[in-house]
Amino acid sequence: MRIFSGIQPTGDKHFGNYSGGFRQYAATQAEGEAFFCIVDLHSVTVDYHPPALRESSLNLAAMLFATGLEADRSTIFVQSHNVAHAEAAWLLSAVASFGELRRMTGFKERAEQQTFVTAGLFTYPVLMAGDILLYQTDLVPIGDDQRQHLELARDMAVRFNQRFGETFKLPRGQYPAEGARIMDLTNPEKKMGTTTSSDMGKILLVDRPDAIRRKVMSAVTDAGRDVRRAEDKPGVTNLIDIMSVASGRSPESIEAEYDGQGYGRFKAAVAEAVIECLNPIRERYLRLRSDPVELEKLLSQGAEKARQVSAPTLQAMYDAMGFVRRSGG
Ligand code: AMP
Ligand code: TRP
Repeated sequence: MRIFSGIQPTGDKHFGNYSGGFRQYAATQAEGEAFFCIVDLHSVTVDYHPPALRESSLNLAAMLFATGLEADRSTIFVQSHNVAHAEAAWLLSAVASFGELRRMTGFKERAEQQTFVTAGLFTYPVLMAGDILLYQTDLVPIGDDQRQHLELARDMAVRFNQRFGETFKLPRGQYPAEGARIMDLTNPEKKMGTTTSSDMGKILLVDRPDAIRRKVMSAVTDAGRDVRRAEDKPGVTNLIDIMSVASGRSPESIEAEYDGQGYGRFKAAVAEAVIECLNPIRERYLRLRSDPVELEKLLSQGAEKARQVSAPTLQAMYDAMGFVRRSGG
């Protein structure tokens, strides 16, 4: 089975990324041939700082290994190292409609935050579809916020196959049972996000124990003392989800232990569970990050493999679409 997922090298990664991303990547790599892509081409679709992009890409590589990916088991690479991604995006734009791209909620939300809305932000889901389809992917581990993008990638694959002939496998998304959508600690009505959450709203994977305690203890809860998941208790529900992801315990067992005990004691337990989960990750991350030469070596090996595996599909796309064959190609 082929597994593929992508993650953006922007800003410091947070607990939502751990829950919907990293944690699932490490779990799925055992199930088949896995590719994890640092999607730097996606990161230039909003305003960004060029010198920071290189640093963030290496930070992210270190975090992928720190959270459990193994270079001899999975392929970890940088998107821009395989030009097939940019080419596939252009070719696939022939089967993406203006209307469906305009309906993407990810686009609408991010466009609102920008003074200059790039064309790339609009066509971003086409680039993402190419990432996935180039590898004949079966399974895409992602968080809930990427569901609409994955559905669009499937629609584009079906449309391409119908219009130009059978070329792509149909990928399916895999969403975590618990914690597919971790919410902002200061406002549990919106998701925890890299740019959309304030410092106190998100737990960073590199946060030290005191910062984690401070953030969790001041998280917004709800009226009452109940520790149980309910629609009208988004704050407590979110903390139960966070504890469940951090500790591997079921939400039911957490409710059974803490219900009726008040929020102070519960929050302290959540903080300790998160610290226990993230501490070893932070330590591994710092060790890996101190050796950029080794990281770059692993990434260049990953890129070589990614180029080899995607090349036949890219060629099949050109052929199916009627382009003149390149000599020797
Ligand atoms: P990004 O950093 O936006 O590239 O996202 C990387 C992965 O993290 C994707 O699979 C997202 O679906 C996932 N993710 C981002 N934010 C959250 C969140 N608040 N809860 C759960 N998963 C998330
Ligand atoms: N758009 C995804 C996000 O922001 C990142 C991404 C890019 C991705 N290409 C992908 C995820 C391919 C899964 C598969 O989280």
